[in-house]
Amino acid sequence: MKNIVILISGRGSNMEAIVRACAAEGWPARIAAVIANRPDAEGLAFAQANRIATNMVESRGKTREAFDAELAAVIDSHAPDLVVLAGFMRILTAEFTLRYAGRLVNIHPSLLPAFPGLHTHARALEAGCKLAGATVHFVTPDLDHGPIVIQAAIAVKADDTPESLAARLLPVEHVIYPRAIRWFAEGRLAVEGTRARLRPNADGNIEPQWLFGEDA
Ligand code: GAR
Repeated sequence: MKNIVILISGRGSNMEAIVRACAAEGWPARIAAVIANRPDAEGLAFAQANRIATNMVESRGKTREAFDAELAAVIDSHAPDLVVLAGFMRILTAEFTLRYAGRLVNIHPSLLPAFPGLHTHARALEAGCKLAGATVHFVTPDLDHGPIVIQAAIAVKADDTPESLAARLLPVEHVIYPRAIRWFAEGRLAVEGTRARLRPNADGNIEPQWLFGEDA
């Protein structure tokens, strides 16, 4: 049984999708804790209602180093096998990412390595991209880079706005992120150099590490 700790900053809809899939699909894992860096993170209420341990580690007014050290101590108190960044809007120190090397994942709303950082959809529209998407990846010290686990792409419409793209992409994120975490929980996912390697499932099938379209 693997312990999963999920970090959020706000709404927490990806966290919610992971919690639901873990229960519905009977993963060999438990959500050990949900940790927020903002007291008003809406997702905390869902976690509490589902009797998941919650912690709040306020990030405001602290140096990056001090916050990350405090955060790591709280995370480690839950003995995590995997730490999941789910809309966790903080840049992490290299020291923090290396502490959890190979057991720290993130979802980013672009087809990495395109558009790391903020305002991904506005930048994709500005560049005239015909596909937009999301990427689940292992976290390394290099912001929004690291071995790619799964990507999903959707077609960009002529009248898309950053908001409409984000709204159409979110349900797709809710499919790929739980899928990636199930793979990890099943012990089938590992980092090999710059790449994430997925081993076949019990039936000997290798599931695709990509998804296209909104009918996920
Ligand atoms: C998601 O769209 C996620 O991809 C994005 O924030 C949103 C969080 O929503 N993450 C980032 O931008 C990370 N740089 P949620 O709180 O409802 O899961």
